[in-house]
Amino acid sequence: MDLVELERRAAARLPQHVYDYMRATAGGSEVLERQIAEWDAIRLRPRVLTGATPPATATTVLGTPVAAPILVAPMAQQVDAHPDGERATAAGARAAGSLLGVSTNTAVPFARIAEGGAPWWFQLYVTRDRRLSTALLERAVAAGAGAVLLTVDITRLRHPRAGASVSVEPTDWTDGRTGARLANLTEEELRIARGEGGRGDRGLGVDAITWIREVTGLPVVVKGVLRGDDAARAVDAGAASVLVSTHGGRGLASSVGSAAVLAEVVSAVGGRAEVYADSGIRSGLHAAAGLAIGARAVFVGRPVMWGLAADGAAGVTTVLEALRDELVGAMDLLGASTVADLTPDLVAPR
Ligand code: FNR
Repeated sequence: MDLVELERRAAARLPQHVYDYMRATAGGSEVLERQIAEWDAIRLRPRVLTGATPPATATTVLGTPVAAPILVAPMAQQVDAHPDGERATAAGARAAGSLLGVSTNTAVPFARIAEGGAPWWFQLYVTRDRRLSTALLERAVAAGAGAVLLTVDITRLRHPRAGASVSVEPTDWTDGRTGARLANLTEEELRIARGEGGRGDRGLGVDAITWIREVTGLPVVVKGVLRGDDAARAVDAGAASVLVSTHGGRGLASSVGSAAVLAEVVSAVGGRAEVYADSGIRSGLHAAAGLAIGARAVFVGRPVMWGLAADGAAGVTTVLEALRDELVGAMDLLGASTVADLTPDLVAPR
């Protein structure tokens, strides 16, 4: 898939400040480029003479069937990319047999996103005033969310307009540029959200995992883990999965990349929970490498956003299907018939 061309088409349709916000990383563009290069640098050792049948990519994540272990990362305010926003992303994911994360910062009501027909997981930024988070969690459950993605790497929410380095997420809860507002809070809650109560909870600890499980009854995926010890603590506290992520390079500029720490996290979790990875996944080969190291699935962010901006739901489907086709090609050459055959022995030692 020609992602450079797709991004160019997306950029041509987006207002400059929106494109800049979506593309932004914590340092410069080299932060994400370095992380993509780390996926590229993984060397694979193909198996031959296996009698392998044509590859099948179908699998499950937390029990939910997906056509391939390539899922859509939660990204804020998709109405900036397309008038139907997350509703279109969901429809595009459904056509590809995928699953999407839905950001706290969406301007589309959960029920409308659910109409898109894809399984979806709600992404939560825990707010200082937990009444806001509780309300969002309850509404997400009512609309059919299958899990909660608890984002733990960036808890200080700030609107991109606030700073030159667009490293953080919207927080004034009403996007002044587009007029889009968070659709899943009431007027009264929005009023609370605009004050201190809407800020990210900086003192977040593992007890948040128990709290979310109690409020929702849903499995919790901890998003933004980059260390084995943190992953183990999250799982000990009841997390069903951990998502190894640098927030697409939007958090700490000097952070290690997901590719470099995935094996450590997989080993620390030791099969007690599912492990996923994102940040810099740009091809089926990257996905194959992540799965071989031990991820159950990978999430993709910006490429899906470019597909959405360029061609709406159909663009989302095209990106997901192209990545899946590339994964099939990689599995074929690696001698893997199913995703379970993507095992660590396929990865060359560094
Ligand atoms: C994000 N990401 C993100 N993560 C999250 O937990 N909540 C959010 O609201 C957002 N919003 C958001 C907006 C935009 C425009 C981008 C690009 C990213 C991070 C996202 O879930 C994921 O971790 C990264 O995007 C993955 O990296 P790639 O695939 O974009 O390199």
